Amino acid sequence: MASTFETVGVVGLGTMGAGIAEVFARAGIAVVGVETDPGALERGRGHLEGSTGRALSRGRLTEAERAEILGRVAFTTSLEDLSDCDLVIEAIPEVMDFKRALFTDLDRVCKPSAVLATNTSSLSVTAIAATTTRPGRVVGMHFFNPAPVMRLVEVVRTVSTEDGLAEEVAGLARRLGKTPVTVADRAGFVVNRLLLPYLNHAAALLEQGLSTRDDIDTAMRLGAGLPMGPFALLDLIGLDTSYEICEALFRESRERRHAPAPVLREFVTAGLLGRKSGRGFHGEEPPANPSSE
Ligand code: 3HC
Repeated sequence: MASTFETVGVVGLGTMGAGIAEVFARAGIAVVGVETDPGALERGRGHLEGSTGRALSRGRLTEAERAEILGRVAFTTSLEDLSDCDLVIEAIPEVMDFKRALFTDLDRVCKPSAVLATNTSSLSVTAIAATTTRPGRVVGMHFFNPAPVMRLVEVVRTVSTEDGLAEEVAGLARRLGKTPVTVADRAGFVVNRLLLPYLNHAAALLEQGLSTRDDIDTAMRLGAGLPMGPFALLDLIGLDTSYEICEALFRESRERRHAPAPVLREFVTAGLLGRKSGRGFHGEEPPANPSSE
């Protein structure tokens, strides 16, 4: 069945979800943004206001355009408000049990024709689809951070995906001003499958004392022409997400080179997750522990 995608739901309004909601709203599509509690919902609204506010201050949006974009997004804590959506995209934490529980609920509340999409970067889309009664209408729709800026969307089709659905979702991505590529459901899809081994290798080289953090970052920016060095990019992606993607590649390939570098595990265990926590390879020192003073 052909889909029109006039109203879209986004579940999870963290950095990625809020960015994705902004992308849809900028394309003139009505968005229902869902978070679990009012605090998280307000933070999600804050992300959208902040990002469109920056665009306004850089002269990329007028006041009126910004108001229109924000006016297209409805904020709610109730999944039931997704009942009229033509597509719902999930951008919640990368925990399979959470995703499976959410997709069971989405399958119940969303109309039968709705497409259910996941923005997962490391989990099996097939396993998520299998929790629903409509696995043929489930796809991966994988955006890149920062979602309003990065031009790619990976459309992930599984063995269950209905014929033609990946092409429809690719058409939606084009409507958003993105370039879609279609990928099979394998760990890391295309980008993370190629990118994370490089970032993981950089972390291992830092541990081995090849060079300093800043010199490795500078080397890859100036010598390889990348917009960010590996440690700045790891911090942007999030060290927890990076770790999970390496783990997924390792689980699937059983190749030792994909095992996450120990320093990544150490940072994640310490709660130093990159930009989202204020400190990763770069960033502020964590607040002093009063009990240690
Ligand atoms: N949200 C919205 N817009 C943002 C933004 C954000 N978080 N960060 C930057 N921007 C916008 C700026 O407003 C600016 O817009 P303008 O040109 O219209 O004024 C533009 O992006 C450029 O930003 P800056 O001038 O501040 O900074 P840079 O030129 O250094 O660009 C960058 C910042 C776009 C992040 C660039 O460094 C970059 O492309 N880095 C690589 C990012 C990357 O590789 N992402 C993919 C990671 S993998 C992934 O996400 C997959 C997942 O599964 C893990």
